[in-house]
Amino acid sequence: MVDDGRVTEISDVPEVDGSAAAPAPDWSFMGDGRFGAYDWNDPWPVYDRMRAEAPYWQNPEGITVLTRFADCEAVLRDPRFSASNDHDDPPRVLQPDDPRLLMDTGAQPLIFLDPPDHTRLRKLVSKAFTPRSIERLRPRVQVLVDDILDRAADEGGLDVVADLGFELPVIVICELLGVPLDDRPQFAGWSSAASRLLDDELTPDVLNEGVVAAINFASYFEDLFAERRRSPRDDLVSGLLAAEEEGDRLSADELGSIVVLLFIAGHETTMNLIGNGTYALLRERDQLVRWRDDPTLDALAVEELLRFDGPVHLTGRTPIEDIELHGHHFPRGRRVMTLVSAGNRDPERFRDPSHVDVSRADNHQLTFSQGIHYCLGAALARLEGQVAIGSLVRRFPDLELAEQPRYRDHFVLRGLQSLQVTV
Ligand code: HEM
Repeated sequence: MVDDGRVTEISDVPEVDGSAAAPAPDWSFMGDGRFGAYDWNDPWPVYDRMRAEAPYWQNPEGITVLTRFADCEAVLRDPRFSASNDHDDPPRVLQPDDPRLLMDTGAQPLIFLDPPDHTRLRKLVSKAFTPRSIERLRPRVQVLVDDILDRAADEGGLDVVADLGFELPVIVICELLGVPLDDRPQFAGWSSAASRLLDDELTPDVLNEGVVAAINFASYFEDLFAERRRSPRDDLVSGLLAAEEEGDRLSADELGSIVVLLFIAGHETTMNLIGNGTYALLRERDQLVRWRDDPTLDALAVEELLRFDGPVHLTGRTPIEDIELHGHHFPRGRRVMTLVSAGNRDPERFRDPSHVDVSRADNHQLTFSQGIHYCLGAALARLEGQVAIGSLVRRFPDLELAEQPRYRDHFVLRGLQSLQVTV
């Protein structure tokens, strides 16, 4: 089905029946209950048991799962571990009816690339995301947050996830890239659906929705690139198009893939930082009050919320050779899952890790990863988190939960379905 030029169902793409492509998730890769039942709303007891009982664990899918801070950090920093699935042994092969085969994978996203392609592409966009370039956005971010909080004051409450967590980062990344804000209704929902493709175990419906969203994103940005080629502006998309036209630095496929990644990464994760972070403070009210009464804590408090309940739970790598590290053997080709959220609560690394301490100073957490793939948008996410959550708690001293929130059943990107509060 096609609506307004966009795909709305997978049946638009003939000859593929995606419905049989993926098994229903069974979570066996998290231990089939051997570390306790996995609960989206409280995964921490399972992570604690894994870290204590089997910190280097071969799961039933043949993946090595790491839960200690030091092990996760060492793997992420080691260039002998590739971010790409191309080194997996046995190689990953999609079934012929898997809808992911419909996606145009002419260029892998930056996040899955190894040097030298990774180095070349990252350099093209990194200037726009340095802490200094990002700091210039602070006044604009504050204006956007104040507008949202004014509306909340009029209405007596807000959904922190939808009204602040989604709204703020999506406007900021649209303005940075040069995506027209009026197009927002078109891509509402696509980011969330497409980012599910990071998860391994998906129901057929979720998989189909993800693929449809990814195809739509690609076609939306093709149209935008054509428009900006005709009339360039002072925005990141126009800057990248200029690099593409020079020919040797950026191919057309790479351009599409990097812009879609920036767009999705630019808000899907930050939305969850704002949602998870506010929820953590509402549960540890003494910490909310400490931060509210001391604005010099802005930076430390956000770092702590990133550690305590980060929006990204894991990432993965594949050893390109047989590796001995920290007394563990990592065979070439066997995928490694670094559960960074478990590492962030490792008592060997953090004192009293299951509590929020908004003044925690020694807080080198893993939520933005480590090594060459360290999050390119970290400075932007930190800025948005500081302004959004800091302003929310200072403006509304009586901030209260309006209803008990639930986490979404996403594994890689962790966030709440909604967070209704009264002000
Ligand atoms: C709290 C919010 C965010 C979190 C927790 C987060 C987390 C991460 C993580 C864990 C990685 C690396 C994954 C790996 O090592 O395999 C990453 C990479 C990346 N992030 Fe973020 N991110 C956030 C916000 C952002 C924002 C706002 C942007 C952009 C505007 C962004 C853009 C990127 C890009 C482009 C990469 C790929 C970097 C590379 O491969 O060199 N992220 N992010």
